Amino acid sequence: MRYRHSTFAQAASAPVSKATFRVPTRGRRPALAAAVESAFDTAAPPAFDTAVETALAAPVDRVPAESDGPVLAELQLDPELLTGPVEVTGITQVTHDVKTFELRAGWMTAVDFAPGQYVTMRIPELGLERCYSISSAPFGTNIFTVTVKRVAGGAVSTHLHENVRVGDQLHVDGPYGLFSTSFHQAERHLFLSAGSGITPIMSMVRSLLARQGGLGTDIVFVHSASTPADIIFRAELEQLAEVAGVSVTILCSRDSEAETWAGRRGRIDASTLAEVVPDAADRETFLCGPGSYMNAVRPLLAEAGVPSARTHEESFVFATSPADRLAKAGARAKGAETGAVGVTGVSHAVEFRVSGRVVDCDESTTVLDSALDAGLSVPSSCSEGACGTCKSVLVSGEVEMKHAGGIRPKEIAAGKFLPCCSTPLTDIVVDR
Ligand code: FES
Repeated sequence: MRYRHSTFAQAASAPVSKATFRVPTRGRRPALAAAVESAFDTAAPPAFDTAVETALAAPVDRVPAESDGPVLAELQLDPELLTGPVEVTGITQVTHDVKTFELRAGWMTAVDFAPGQYVTMRIPELGLERCYSISSAPFGTNIFTVTVKRVAGGAVSTHLHENVRVGDQLHVDGPYGLFSTSFHQAERHLFLSAGSGITPIMSMVRSLLARQGGLGTDIVFVHSASTPADIIFRAELEQLAEVAGVSVTILCSRDSEAETWAGRRGRIDASTLAEVVPDAADRETFLCGPGSYMNAVRPLLAEAGVPSARTHEESFVFATSPADRLAKAGARAKGAETGAVGVTGVSHAVEFRVSGRVVDCDESTTVLDSALDAGLSVPSSCSEGACGTCKSVLVSGEVEMKHAGGIRPKEIAAGKFLPCCSTPLTDIVVDR
């Protein structure tokens, strides 16, 4: 088996393992310092030691005894993966339509993730999966949080908001994603978010502040919300604004019913950017929000001289919906009849071993699309190699995979791949 893929090269060279560590808890201070220093590849400053100790202090009593969760062998879980059943241990109403769910991975001592990464949450009763950013920082407990905005008509977010209670179990798979300060380390950061795009950003900001213990922090954070009532983590943002080395700007497009916004108004523009972050070009920039926001901000960053190589983006508003994909499959089928598609002229046999179907797949067609064309049901969500939902085993053959962080290097090494972003280079056999 051989894979060609672009993003993995970036992921493999990034300090993923450096950002994932398990901090021993009570009574093991020397090991803690060693773990922290190893995690960040540098000596932890004294203030950072204090910050980590403080971060550990509150939740340490909640680190479960072994009897709290099923043992690893029973669950067949990889201890490095945040994949399995998690218990809802707390629910906080953040705004009128946003809740934070505190989740405990009972089989782990400490969850492993890089700040900014996300998990795919599976709701078996709905037969649906959705990606949610982890909003907490990764500091040595098996507790983490996801913050979910209720989306009008959104089945999963509505289910989470209306039906999920403390004590319930959810299933997560992750962590995924390369949108993290751990993979793009820098001294100075610019964070730009809109709406619920703030969730991965808060994980990174919280992590940087704990990591640096307030020393040498140089963060500019610009968040946009529709109204004051829609500002997620508002109290924390206001506290952050008081921290040395942290600049926070909140923009609201309009007033809410109960509050006239006294801060900056309107949408982010070139003059606001130049005023609040005149040195944008010298900062590692992280951008997260709805597609329209991202489209508006990209040119502003380019105008401000921020190199595209130092601009990192994430949006869970995927370009292709399931309905779009089915429509595309229909168009491909029609095009194939007329000779309008399949332009490379090179195709390979794709065998779906479990279902016993074999289809021809053009080198320009993804394996997922070929499965849909064949009428096969392969779970998928993003179609962009980001969520991990379509992960499958490549039994034999070669594919070119261009993923966006939805698969881990060790999964690739174990023979897995993402059909949604892979095209065949040879005849292949897929375990589907
Ligand atoms: S559908 Fe999301 S990674 Fe394939």
